[in-house]
Amino acid sequence: LILSNEELYRPNFHFTPKSGWMNDPNGMFFYKGLYHLFYQYYPDDTVWGPMHWGHATSKDMITWNEQKIALYPDAKGYIFSGSAVVDRNNTSGLGSLQNPPIVAMYTNHDAQSEKDGNMDYQTQAIAYSLDEGMTWTKYSKNPVIKNPNLKHFRDPKMIWDEIHKQWIVVIAADIETKIYRSSNLIDWEFASAFGKDLGVHGAPWECPDFFPIKVEGTDELKWVLLQSINPGGPNGGSATQYFVGDFDGKTFSVDNSFLNDLKEFQALWIDYGKDNYAGVTWSNIPDKDGRKLFIGWMSNWQYASKVPTKAWRSAMTIPRELKLIKNEGHYRIVSLPVKELDKYISKTLQKDKIVVNENQIIVDNSTVDMSKLDISFTVTDIKANGNYDFVLSNNQNNALHFGINKKENSFYIDRKKVSQHSFSDDFAKKISTAPITTDFSSIQVRLIIDKTSIEIFYDNGTTVMTEIFFPDFPMESLSVVKTNSIFELNNVIINQFK
Ligand code: FRU
Repeated sequence: LILSNEELYRPNFHFTPKSGWMNDPNGMFFYKGLYHLFYQYYPDDTVWGPMHWGHATSKDMITWNEQKIALYPDAKGYIFSGSAVVDRNNTSGLGSLQNPPIVAMYTNHDAQSEKDGNMDYQTQAIAYSLDEGMTWTKYSKNPVIKNPNLKHFRDPKMIWDEIHKQWIVVIAADIETKIYRSSNLIDWEFASAFGKDLGVHGAPWECPDFFPIKVEGTDELKWVLLQSINPGGPNGGSATQYFVGDFDGKTFSVDNSFLNDLKEFQALWIDYGKDNYAGVTWSNIPDKDGRKLFIGWMSNWQYASKVPTKAWRSAMTIPRELKLIKNEGHYRIVSLPVKELDKYISKTLQKDKIVVNENQIIVDNSTVDMSKLDISFTVTDIKANGNYDFVLSNNQNNALHFGINKKENSFYIDRKKVSQHSFSDDFAKKISTAPITTDFSSIQVRLIIDKTSIEIFYDNGTTVMTEIFFPDFPMESLSVVKTNSIFELNNVIINQFK
């Protein structure tokens, strides 16, 4: 069976637009049983252009129905990234209590004004929907937040702050995050700025997110700020760092223990792979659910417009649940695929133990479809100087390597031996790595494999690496490479999706 390029590379269960260009996820909210996903979208080409908000809906964040384009560029500019909230009490007055408005805030990017050499070409505007997010009206008196004379001032992410009973919005503002607050989503007051001297800098900050979250298993409440940056990621290009601290209704201050972590690592990243950018969380998740649900753009500005797909470009990551854990005094965001993915499992293979004393196949296409898998196992007897190498490959010499390099104290992904990478030097020239931040002699690993992507969750999501890859032929097997000492894979569970 020879597949066309499109079908060879389009993922099975990750969101992709049918055609056109996509980047950041935008405006995600949950309402009346539906998850909404909007995204930076250019329908007329497969490279970035005048931005629209594309739209898709889903009952479970896995199967998506693409909807009509939600927002078109207008006289005020392109429609850059932003967010949406359900205004339950009609604080904005844009709807009614019977039919609460859904209010979106986005950045109007005035490309002409930028060309003319102005500074204030990015402003924040709102639009509202009175039909559950399907169609939108732009507010007549935009902008609602003017530009304070900054070159980069964009990507507003709003939430209802139940603790201080106010709306807040975080906006990426050059090299910091600005926080504004409001009682009605229309009149906004500047509250504070965060981050000039913290985390990774050197390029504009983009696409922040800010929310309270309880430390797993306790009643301790912290605030988390996600802050994307491009370039500046741990393996080059785009990536998303995070900060943990407290918020008094005006000012966000990083927790002291987290400041120490920043001294040690400079930044902590939601994902250390090259392909998870601009990710933010869903709003309006019911209290009884209570999850923080996240999705990211599964690409990187270094090469997003060059990857070898033709009719469409870019996919989203698998939706993930974010949790905050505290481990020996250290806060960490952990993430794992949402549990809704489990409903799609159609076949499960289990092996209690694989003793690795030679190169060995873990699973291949004689028993499962290698293009849609959720695999988990525990690697035991990890030695201080060992290298635990896994290979996703086919008999055409395409081989994606990833694993644990204990000697270098890092996890890694190496896509050099997957055929299609000459479209960009930044794609596979360097091995991507993530620091190992805890000591272990055994570690739990989970892999989500979907044709052209791998999402690796180490240690129950404490360290995550997401990368895309483009083999000439479908991958056929997953194997593990022998090291100089024997080790085992335990509790191997191979789930294949429908
Ligand atoms: C991040 C970003 C945002 C901006 C959008 C434009 O990937 O650069 O800062 O709003 O993409 O498409």
